[in-house]
Amino acid sequence: MYVCICNAVTEDDVHGCMASGCTTAKAVKAACGFKPGCGLCTKRIHTMVSEYRASAALADALNGGPHPLAAVPEAPLDASRLPEPAQAMGQRADGGSASSTAA
Ligand code: FES
Repeated sequence: MYVCICNAVTEDDVHGCMASGCTTAKAVKAACGFKPGCGLCTKRIHTMVSEYRASAALADALNGGPHPLAAVPEAPLDASRLPEPAQAMGQRADGGSASSTAA
């Protein structure tokens, strides 16, 4: 969704700027290449920056401070743990219902 129509800046653009280290509305505007416009977006950008900073502060408080970004290792795929399509649908491969096996 667009935050600023005059400069065609979206919420994703603003979030990207904040994730890149912009911590003020002025810094976000500079990073997004804002040019003077109607100004209707200013309050929305301030709100987004404020929410981002508050959530970052909460996350830091819960996690004991900021942590450096690290790559998440990809878990190896174990095909034997995947359900067969028929089992996933609640039916056995022989056509019976999985719920009728107890009888
Ligand atoms: S909507 Fe952002 S300057 Fe007009």
